[in-house]
Amino acid sequence: MSITTGDFRSKITVNTLSEKKLKHEPITCLTAYDYATARLVDEAGIDVILVGDSLAQTMLGYDSTIPVTVDEMLHHAKAVRRAVRNAFLVVDMPYASYHVDVRDALNNAARFVKEGGAEAVKIEGGEKRLEVVHRLMDAEIPVVGHIGLTPQSLNMMGGYKVQGKTLSAIEQLMRDATVLDRAGVCLLVLEGIPREVASMITEAVETPTIGIGAGPDCDGQILVIHDLLGMTFQPPAKFVRRYADVGQVIANSVKTYRDDVKTRAYPDDAECYHLSKEMFTSLAAIVERKRSIQK
Ligand code: KIV
Repeated sequence: MSITTGDFRSKITVNTLSEKKLKHEPITCLTAYDYATARLVDEAGIDVILVGDSLAQTMLGYDSTIPVTVDEMLHHAKAVRRAVRNAFLVVDMPYASYHVDVRDALNNAARFVKEGGAEAVKIEGGEKRLEVVHRLMDAEIPVVGHIGLTPQSLNMMGGYKVQGKTLSAIEQLMRDATVLDRAGVCLLVLEGIPREVASMITEAVETPTIGIGAGPDCDGQILVIHDLLGMTFQPPAKFVRRYADVGQVIANSVKTYRDDVKTRAYPDDAECYHLSKEMFTSLAAIVERKRSIQK
């Protein structure tokens, strides 16, 4: 039985996502980090909304995802939760929230579920994260895997580089994908890997794969919403398709507002509140009386 919400679209769950893979129906995913954007994305019918740790750069101005904290992630997750009705809501576990100790991982993930309303948490890495994945799932927390170019490994990778280009790297990716699949992750993000490798992984696993810079053969696609909308300050990566230039729209609107204020073109009379004629007449009479007393 599927639960339907007010707008007659079905609530997306882990089951819907697996069914979509079986039916070869592409899964649509986007990031969102605030209430207004999340509402627009949810109402547009996107299946999965990710409160990605990419908010470190897009929202908070850090130069990588590494510094962002659990509390900062939670602040954004709560705002997004208030907006989302139908999409499946995933929250990223930030760097060091699951790397140091499995108990930390459990406590942090439980906060994302209880306080942030996450329906799943995403963690980066394959084989070496297996214990964490099992422990989270034992605690009834669905997990999204993320392999390939994993931005939290920036310092180990020595830069944001396409992964899975040598035979041994491809073998490792296949192992990572297979162990996460067997462990029962609900989605598997494949980032920054050759199309051919993503396609092989997608065929080999039961878990729906979600590509970002991994070609069209994945079971779904995700983009960072700021990239899609043109709200970034660097040239976009090769895989990004810009659907709008919202950055330019904002810049132009703000400049026009600035000019209107400076020239007093804003606000005009239609943008003002007015007293009623009677109130204005009484007020004018009072002011006049006060003036004549002062003389
Ligand atoms: O943090 C993020 O936005 C992500 C996606 C790009 C997959 O991890």
